[in-house]
Amino acid sequence: MRMVDLIEKKRDGLELSSEEINFIIKGYTDGSIPDYQVSALTMAIYFKGMTEKERADLTMAMVESGDQINLSQIQGIKVDKHSTGGVGDTTTLVLGPLVASVGVPVAKMSGRGLGHTGGTIDKLEAVKGFHVEIENSEFINLVNKNKIAVIGQSGNLTPADKKLYALRDVTATVDSIPLIASSIMSKKIAAGADAIVLDVKTGAGAFMKTLEDSKELARAMVRIGNNVGRKTMAVISDMSQPLGFAIGNALEVKEAIDTLKGEGPEDLTELCLTLGSHMVYLAEKASSLTEARELLEASIKDGSALEKLKVFLSSQGGDASIVDDPSKLPQAKYTFELEAKEDGFVSEIVADEVGTAAMLLGAGRATKESVIDLAVGLVLRKKIGDQVKKGESIVTIYSNFEDVNEVKEMLYNNITLTSAKAEAPILIHGEITE
Ligand code: URA
Ligand code: CA
Repeated sequence: MRMVDLIEKKRDGLELSSEEINFIIKGYTDGSIPDYQVSALTMAIYFKGMTEKERADLTMAMVESGDQINLSQIQGIKVDKHSTGGVGDTTTLVLGPLVASVGVPVAKMSGRGLGHTGGTIDKLEAVKGFHVEIENSEFINLVNKNKIAVIGQSGNLTPADKKLYALRDVTATVDSIPLIASSIMSKKIAAGADAIVLDVKTGAGAFMKTLEDSKELARAMVRIGNNVGRKTMAVISDMSQPLGFAIGNALEVKEAIDTLKGEGPEDLTELCLTLGSHMVYLAEKASSLTEARELLEASIKDGSALEKLKVFLSSQGGDASIVDDPSKLPQAKYTFELEAKEDGFVSEIVADEVGTAAMLLGAGRATKESVIDLAVGLVLRKKIGDQVKKGESIVTIYSNFEDVNEVKEMLYNNITLTSAKAEAPILIHGEITE
């Protein structure tokens, strides 16, 4: 087989066979096929697309390019949740303990990553003593015992995707739905998921800005999952404004505690109940979505969800007393209020720009070397559709430095007030199951 013939085939819009896709991914991973040929191929894919079969083949070829996590010693159906990324997305911190509390095994491998705030592990490290450097065997034992554990990323997972993603980044081929869908799905499958619930964000703060594109990406991922034997469904959720109120690491841990107590922001609570119901249903812990939701609501109400968070934190060395006393979480030295300059209604909160403001305070990493300040961030006091009076606080800024003028400027520029009543955005734009 010659790579040049395969590039030509794709250039002319023909379908690559399973053998051909395996040849490409194997050759690219071991270095026998050079970057320039794969660049040409990804550009051909960008313009010609991929068939459903090609997408499934590409996904599995990338899964097989490296290690795969074996979770077979964990009892039950392992359902993983994946979000396509947003601003102040506290769902993972809430969903883990929530679904574990009704018996769904949560075996989470998580990373740090770049962004407006840290990743799930960074957030959890706001809890004193909590650590994710545990042995595989302990990880398995903890999930069997408590139904929940988180382990740091280890092993050589989907090296083909790492290489390909980096190449796409510099060849203007990131924005290709088949390539995005297979990239995301390959990582979930290699991490051992039996079933997958996807939270595909849409709006200004999302990877996909339009509802049309978000739906197409969701459909592409759901089809890949179902074609390779992993039950998969997707929820399309709003990211035109940040989710919940808190954007920041310790601040989001506090927000997750509130939500598990039943006192969280309405949008975050609703999204967690929706995603959680699908997880419980796919894990076969309920025979309908309605029953699944009732189980989750009951668990919040009777305190089991909160109790599960305590068990989870303490079993990995964390100080679970923060759950009853969140003032023990890292605290910022200063707080400032962003005061409304006039009366009105909040009509826009540009999610990614507000996220960047949190990053300026130190809540996230701009580069791999940046050090996160776990205490700092933003808490929105108002969301789209809310009324504000002149002088009232729209956002509380938690900072460890005294001068936050640049942050305030950014927030004023990206939070719009109008005199006419604005509508709150729809939170859930649809669900895709086939
Ligand atoms: N996220 C991924 O993991 N892969 C892509 O290709 C795009 C976004
Ligand atoms: Ca939040």
